[in-house]
Formats: sequence, structure tokens, C-alpha cells
Amino acid sequence: MKIFLDTANLDELRAAAALGIVDGVTTNPSLIAKEGRSNVEQIRAICEIVDGDISAEVVSTEAEEMIREGHELAAIHPNVVVKCPLIPEGIKATKALSSQGIRVNVTLCFSAAQALLAAKAGAYIVSPFMGRLDDIASEGTELIREIVTIYENYDFPTQVLAASIRGPMHVKDVALAGSHIATMPAKIFHQLFKHPLTDIGLEQFLADYRKTLAEVAVG
Ligand code: G3P
Repeated sequence: MKIFLDTANLDELRAAAALGIVDGVTTNPSLIAKEGRSNVEQIRAICEIVDGDISAEVVSTEAEEMIREGHELAAIHPNVVVKCPLIPEGIKATKALSSQGIRVNVTLCFSAAQALLAAKAGAYIVSPFMGRLDDIASEGTELIREIVTIYENYDFPTQVLAASIRGPMHVKDVALAGSHIATMPAKIFHQLFKHPLTDIGLEQFLADYRKTLAEVAVG
């Protein structure tokens, strides 16, 4: 499963990318707004930090305008994937952009039926928001499982990107469900490393090593 970071913050991206296991980045208008720069400027800067798929979202709601925006975003860098919302106009734009060789991430997906439409439009990625479903007492992980099954049933090449992830358990759950990608805030990415037994075990190993060194030195 690929790991993407769901942030537009350059410091967070630099720190996480330095670990060498970040495969891409997802952004949305809310994440870009926090950084105080234009979408184009921020996406360009992100592309210089992470070498992988970088999702950049359109803000229009009409297909024609989404297609124009999509071309503008795709021109920023070859790694840019254009994000379109899962509404009829977004699906129309996805079909057009995909036919023109521009990769599209269909976002704001909340049902398997919607995901089927995204795949039929030629989406490169579909983004089911599992956390926002869990927030309203609906099964986010089950949705990921259903979409993966439907795509496998019909050999759709569209990748499932589990979005709106709320914690390390979600990451494990979507990996078990067969998600191709999980995108997560930087904080959750760093939490994945944590286990108290790792810290205790390492402390013990190093203490024993230092003790042996001291004993050898004394003779
Ligand atoms: O980028 C889309 C998604 O990951 C947003 O997550 O936390 O705003 O529900 P959240």
C-alpha cells in the first residue's frame, strides 16, 4: 500500500519525506487555505519536496471550467494529479481530462456506487472519505472493502485511496481491506512508528551494549 501525506504544509512534508517512504501527497482547498499561498504556488513547492503523485483540487463546479482548471494544474508539474469532486459535472470533467491524458483523482466519494461511476469515467484514483463516514456512525472500512471488490470484479485500473484517515488503526484497517493508497495527516504518519516495546527494547539493548563496553575497558 502506498503512503501519501494529506497536508500542504511544506515543513511537515520535508520532515516526513526525509524518511524515504512517502509515495505522494494529497491536498484540498481547505489544506491549501491554511498555508496562505495560491494553489499553484503551493503545489509547485510541494512537487519539489515529494517525488510522487501530488493531488491538486479544482474549485469550479461546472465541467467546462473544471477542465480548464485541470489543464492549468496539470501544467505545474508532470506529477500533478487533478482532483475533481464526485458530482455529475465532476464525472463529466473526469471523463474529458482522462481522455486527454490527464490523471484524475475523484474526491468526496462516500459510496461504492459513486466509486463505480468514477472508475467508468477513467479516474486514475478514487478517494473515499472513511473518517467522515465513521464520524456519522457509518462503516468507513467497509466502504473501502466494497470498492476494492468492485474494481477487482471488473478489472478497473482505478486505484482506491483511503482518505480522511483519523488514526493508525484506520491505516491498518484499510491496508487489510486492500486499499492501494492511504493518505494521512503528518501526525498520524509519525504515530505509525510508535510502539512502547520498541522503545523499551532499544533502551535495554543499548544499556547492555554500554555495560559490556565498560567491562571490556576495565579488563
Ligand atoms: O483530503 C481529503 C481528506 O483526506 C480530508 O480529510 O480529515 O478533512 O475529513 P478530513
